[in-house]
Amino acid sequence: MLNIAVFISGSGSNLQSIIDNCESGNVNAKIQLVLSNEPDAFGIERAKKHNIPAVTVNHRDYSSRQDFEDAICQSLKDYNIDLICLAGFMRVLTAHFLNQFPNKVINIHPALLPSFAGTQGQQDAFDYGVKFTGCTVHFVDTGVDTGPIIIQAVVPVKQDDTLEILKKRILAQEHKVYPQAIQYIAQGAVKISGNKVVIDGLANALDFAEIYPPAKIFDK
Ligand code: GRF
Repeated sequence: MLNIAVFISGSGSNLQSIIDNCESGNVNAKIQLVLSNEPDAFGIERAKKHNIPAVTVNHRDYSSRQDFEDAICQSLKDYNIDLICLAGFMRVLTAHFLNQFPNKVINIHPALLPSFAGTQGQQDAFDYGVKFTGCTVHFVDTGVDTGPIIIQAVVPVKQDDTLEILKKRILAQEHKVYPQAIQYIAQGAVKISGNKVVIDGLANALDFAEIYPPAKIFDK
């Protein structure tokens, strides 16, 4: 059983998906702790509802990033945490923190990295006019939304989409890929080789392409 901590800053819908998939047995992990940097994050209520310990470490209470990160470490020290899952956690973690958890911090990003990194991944992809965007779960390194990619879901941007509709469609996929990434790690199937992640035991090579708008001339 993988012991995980989930870091949040807001709504925590990804947290909810992780909770639900752990409870159903889809994911062989136990959430030992939910940590929020925002005292009012709704995700804290979600944790409490499921009897999961939740702590707030408010970054505003610390004069430096290092002190903030030390306080986070202090909160984690009583739990034997194997994996930290950032789920809408809106603070950048520095090498000071990450070096203490090598290859043990993962994040979900609402775009197909390395495109559209940063805090507005969905909007930036929408505004750019890409035909496909999606979401990415990746290991966290000292860059912003860099680090080896574990899993991605592709989401088409339909011609009549609004940003709000697109965000919802991406979020629905986030709720699938994040638990799956955690389960691959829980199974011990995930290996990092340079900047690439290899997952053991993946049967049947994928061989497909999605095209949007439709390539009608080939449908005859
Ligand atoms: C998600 O879109 C996630 O990809 C991004 O922040 C959002 C968090 O949503 N990093 P929620 O708090 O899990 O509902």
